[in-house]
Amino acid sequence: MSTVLYIKANPKPDHASYTFRMSEAFIQSYKEVNPGDRIITLDLYQEGVRPLDAEMLAQMFSTQENIMKKYAEQFAAADKYVIAAPMWNLSFPAILKTYFDYVVLAGVTFKYTEQGPVGLLVPGKKAVHITARGGQYSEGPAAQFEMGDRYIRTILGFMGVEQSDITTITTELTGVLQGQELEQSVTKSVEEAKRKAANF
Ligand SMILES: Cc1cc2nc3c(=O)[nH]c(=O)nc-3n(C[C@H](O)[C@H](O)[C@H](O)COP(=O)(O)O)c2cc1C
Repeated sequence: MSTVLYIKANPKPDHASYTFRMSEAFIQSYKEVNPGDRIITLDLYQEGVRPLDAEMLAQMFSTQENIMKKYAEQFAAADKYVIAAPMWNLSFPAILKTYFDYVVLAGVTFKYTEQGPVGLLVPGKKAVHITARGGQYSEGPAAQFEMGDRYIRTILGFMGVEQSDITTITTELTGVLQGQELEQSVTKSVEEAKRKAANF
């Protein structure tokens, strides 16, 4: 049995978000194929994840229970990550970065060594980043400006997830296409999400 951590980073309700249309379809399809698995949904806005403040930083290396340890240990304990976050200003909503600031914790998800930092996640974890984008960044001239997927891949790699175990599912041009064309494009991405969930 695997534990899947479903991290949601969009203040919009499911029905109003293209990102969540894909991610909810992904989770639904995953559940059908893996009925025994445990899915933990972490809606970062509902959680009220707040930027690290001085008090939290002071607790960073404390051995006592605190909110950073709680999120980092939950992250380390999961086997698979589903990260649903739209493109905002070339990356993703800041609340997701804040969440990573909690999760990337020395002694839990990485450690310092004489050769530099090393990821502490047990090998073999899988991740998918699901994202809707107003424009096109998967190819073409704007591809070089995409920093969300790049960041997520880099930070997961830092903690020990292999790049070959990370998948990205996008729907693009949501701000450009209209009407039926947009609906067809999103539907195609939702179908891709369902297909990929079956082998996740
Ligand atoms: C605050 C904000 C920033 C955005 N920045 C970008 C951007 O840099 N590039 C882009 O192509 N679209 C951008 N968009 C458009 C969204 O990526 C697009 O509307 C997408 O469909 C949002 O996903 P959602 O439908 O799941 O909310 C932005 C939207 C918002 C609200």
